[in-house]
Amino acid sequence: MKLENVKHIGIIGTGMIGTSMAVLFTGHGYKTTLFAVSPELQKSSKEKYDRFYQDFVDRNMMTKEQVGICEKYLNYTLDYNDLADVDVVVECVFEELQVKFNIYKNIEKYCTNAKAIISTTSALSVDDLVDGLDKYKDIMVVAHPFNPPHLVPFFEVVKSKYTRDGVTEHVVELLEAVNRKVVVLKKSAPGFIANRLQHALFREAIYIVESGIADARDVDIAAMYSFMPRYTSIGIFEHLDNSGVDLNYNIENYLFPSLSSAQCAPKLICDKMDAKEYGVKSGKGIYDWSKVDMKDFSERISAPYWNYFNWKLPTE
Ligand SMILES: NC(=O)c1ccc[n+]([C@@H]2O[C@H](COP(=O)([O-])OP(=O)(O)OC[C@H]3O[C@@H](n4cnc5c(N)ncnc54)[C@H](O)[C@@H]3O)[C@@H](O)[C@H]2O)c1
Repeated sequence: MKLENVKHIGIIGTGMIGTSMAVLFTGHGYKTTLFAVSPELQKSSKEKYDRFYQDFVDRNMMTKEQVGICEKYLNYTLDYNDLADVDVVVECVFEELQVKFNIYKNIEKYCTNAKAIISTTSALSVDDLVDGLDKYKDIMVVAHPFNPPHLVPFFEVVKSKYTRDGVTEHVVELLEAVNRKVVVLKKSAPGFIANRLQHALFREAIYIVESGIADARDVDIAAMYSFMPRYTSIGIFEHLDNSGVDLNYNIENYLFPSLSSAQCAPKLICDKMDAKEYGVKSGKGIYDWSKVDMKDFSERISAPYWNYFNWKLPTE
């Protein structure tokens, strides 16, 4: 249900995450203003915004008329004064502390009506981020999305030691009102929850390849066709209980000593770095991407997430 106490949302940063957040908020009928640093970045953000909505239209999930109604809630500005009355500010700028601190100075100067400041940082600790705030330390939280947040329906929220009662709850309520699943961490931790899990899996996958147990393609096949599909409908601990704590006790005592305990990026990754084989962006990484059908690949990246679409689109 739309929150009555959120009349206007300000987003600072018109990149991937900022634009996708604008799709999410306008798609639920929230007046949203995106602050852009230049007309060029405003233009490229609007092109992305239109493309994201076109994807819904192409899949018959929305009509062009509905997209037109959502778009009525979207504004761009190059002037911080237009964020004076926002109730919530979402900071989605480059992942550099100093860049974010500069933005926070402007938030404190111009967004004097804000009840919550949200940073979408991937990795920075909320306790470091609040150092960039002076009078608004108590309304900041991190809400970490997965890319793109209008499709991936999950946020992990972290409060700082300064966050005052009610702010985290308000942010959770807003994210739930736009149909996201939200978890609140009990304390700050690098990688939050989901990236800790994902990178623990990467570490072992790389170790299997480095140890000559299997090649990368077979590791991918094993994951995609064995346990991974299950985890879109049950959780890890649900599976642990279902398979039996006693069974897992025995397996862990036997298996854990042979798993990777790498404390930094493994050799396989360092060698790729030295060879400048960065993956898709350079045409070669673990795989050779030069002959891959990238249109098909990008369809596959988003494929499971369309199933989560359950927005109540604005009607006027
Ligand atoms: N892309 C991802 O996969 C992902 C996932 C989760 C979280 N995040 C986090 O979200 C944030 C944004 O990431 P992104 O991928 O959208 O980055 P991006 O590079 O696509 O966009 C960053 C935006 O910041 C803007 N910016 C830079 N300096 C600015 C300033 N002084 N004033 C106003 N705007 C400024 C840029 O103009 C750009 O539009 C980062 O903190 C990132 O770590 C990214």
